[in-house]
Amino acid sequence: MQIQFSSSAPKDIRLVAQLISEGNIPSDLEPTISDGATAARFKGRVGQVFEGFVVRNEHLTRVALAGSGKVDAANRDANLEKAGAALAAKFLRSGETAMVVDFSGADLSAEQAAKVLLGLKLRSWRHDEYRTTLAEDKKATLESTTVINAPDGTQAAWADQAAIAKGVEFTRSLVAEPANIVYPVSFVERCQKAFEGTGAELTVLDEDQMAKLGMDALLGVGQGSRQPSRLLAIRWNGGEEGEKPTVFVGKGVTFDTGGISLKPGAGMEDMKWDMGGAGAVAGAMLALVGRKAKANIVGVVGLAENMPDGNAQRPGDLVTSMSGQTIEVINTDAEGRLVLCDALHWAQEEFEPARIVDFATLTGAIIISLGTEYGGLFANDDALADDILAAGKSSGDSMWRMPIGPAYDKLIDSPIADIKNVGPRGGGSITAAQFLKRFIKKGTAWAHCDIAGMVWTDKPGATWDKGATGFGVRLIDQFVADTLEK
Ligand code: BES
Ligand code: MN
Ligand code: ZN
Repeated sequence: MQIQFSSSAPKDIRLVAQLISEGNIPSDLEPTISDGATAARFKGRVGQVFEGFVVRNEHLTRVALAGSGKVDAANRDANLEKAGAALAAKFLRSGETAMVVDFSGADLSAEQAAKVLLGLKLRSWRHDEYRTTLAEDKKATLESTTVINAPDGTQAAWADQAAIAKGVEFTRSLVAEPANIVYPVSFVERCQKAFEGTGAELTVLDEDQMAKLGMDALLGVGQGSRQPSRLLAIRWNGGEEGEKPTVFVGKGVTFDTGGISLKPGAGMEDMKWDMGGAGAVAGAMLALVGRKAKANIVGVVGLAENMPDGNAQRPGDLVTSMSGQTIEVINTDAEGRLVLCDALHWAQEEFEPARIVDFATLTGAIIISLGTEYGGLFANDDALADDILAAGKSSGDSMWRMPIGPAYDKLIDSPIADIKNVGPRGGGSITAAQFLKRFIKKGTAWAHCDIAGMVWTDKPGATWDKGATGFGVRLIDQFVADTLEK
């Protein structure tokens, strides 16, 4: 969706939308619209959209009223996003190619108007480039939105929101692509292309370089795959010189069959989005770089494909991680933590971060715990945890804190190595977090976000369609804005 600003509506426009707060249907509209809206029980509630037809400028024009809820609602910003998103959902496949959003009478600030546009933009993203036989009336048609009568400063406010939208879209396409299209090397290539000319510094490690560094835990995961593993770091120095960076680390298992501990066949195709953590980190970096965030930040993603093969690692194999800690690989399907432990260790060695936050579709158990409403948050630092919870609340990427502690840590002691990669059945997300914690250096603030339930959805939501949600991008962006840029 293309969004542009103009001083007046294009002459041939056939679809004009207006934002209406609850109970405020304007009286200066054509009676078929204002009376029609009342007759249709349109109140201006969030998500409501009324559509009527009138003759304007001598041609038939669709007039849409989008409800934005109560003016004094505590979650006004989120409501405005939903209002914009509702317009996209309603008209994306309407046959119209262009829409005008007229902000006159909406009584919004520039930031609020930009939120409407963000919702519109996010909800109109789709991934149907491989559908060559889609029926004409199912195809998306709406391509452009012209904004008129926007509050002063909306264009500048939109520039930041547009960067965030671009980040979310980048994440969604990485996550949505099948694993024969997005694999470690092509993931890196997509990032190289996306960050070209942005000023971000990209570092890529291939398998030989990782082997020299001793990343046998990460390499073991990819060892049964034809696709070579990669480690990618994206660095942005937008903050004070010399200030220690905040590092975000993502699990990028581009396909997770489970390896020799093979997963059941039903639903295995979902494991193309087992790189959702890496996708979120890459998209968030693109958003932050795009809006030139005033912070020193690094995104690190560990990329591997987990396949069964004659060369695949076996249950019971012993691997030595880059940190020197030895790992007994009890279950080759608990591969995310093996990728992350080397990525986390390398990131700490390389960047000496002030704090480190990882994102991973790490456990099915977190979906049992929290469903698809919250990601699970684990942390060794209460202040960092609180900042992430707060960013989750205000961005809409909600997180819920889970416990960690020595009693859980004991469950992953191994009789033959320093640690084993799975614990007992109970508390599976917690023992996974405990595993990662063993690779965090003393004194480093760390948080782990298990987002297995959040990166993909079977049903459309407020600002997303079915499929990849882009979860994590807005959380990271908000966290950076509120805690690093303040
Ligand atoms: N990628 C999965 C976790 C997952 C499962 C994400 C379902 C999204 C939906 C992860 O690598 C995995 O397989 N975890 C195992 C761990 C177990 C072997 C200890 C799991 O959750 O079953
Ligand atoms: Mn797995
Ligand atoms: Zn996995």
